[in-house]
Amino acid sequence: MSTHKTRLAVFCSGSGSNFQAIFHALKKKQLNAEIVLCLSNRAHCGAMEFARRNGIATVHLTEKQLNSFDDFAAAMLRCLREQSIGIIVLAGYMRKVPDAVVAAFHDKIINIHPALLPKFGGEGMYGIYVHTAVLEAGETESGATVHLVNEEYDKGKILMQRHVAVLPDDTPETLAERVLACEHILYPDALEKFLAEQQL
Ligand code: GRF
Repeated sequence: MSTHKTRLAVFCSGSGSNFQAIFHALKKKQLNAEIVLCLSNRAHCGAMEFARRNGIATVHLTEKQLNSFDDFAAAMLRCLREQSIGIIVLAGYMRKVPDAVVAAFHDKIINIHPALLPKFGGEGMYGIYVHTAVLEAGETESGATVHLVNEEYDKGKILMQRHVAVLPDDTPETLAERVLACEHILYPDALEKFLAEQQL
């Protein structure tokens, strides 16, 4: 196994609870990887504040700062290369990763989705909409999925899933809370396995 730590970039837009779960797990499990960059389309969100408190470099990057989507993709790639990023971890990043970045980081970008893909995925399926759809479909179980990212929303290879029961009196909010708790176990586990496969 290589002695060099894999350098991770985490992309976030929100509270960053998965980011925090991964950050703590990397330390606790003494994994051969470290989070060196937090990239967000929001300058101030839980994830970016957590990164600042923990000495992780932050980059606030939005399409609006650049003249075109191509320039945006190029700026993103520049940040990633400057930091010698090996793997990108999407943790509640609410923007589509530009195709140029997906191509440059082929099979090196992972994401977590709050449902059991391939069900309840795709464009528009995020946040509370996912859990509402699960309940409306009468599902008896839901869960979370960690998958590779390709050019299509939620269509990359599934790496690991974890199930939770849907309870008869669940609301989208109660289900969301239970799924999020399950994500905090799943994402570190899936990342650990993914890193082990990468570092062979
Ligand atoms: C999670 O539910 C994740 O599945 C989805 O976005 C949410 C991020 O939550 N992709 P947090 O910012 O990690 O708390």
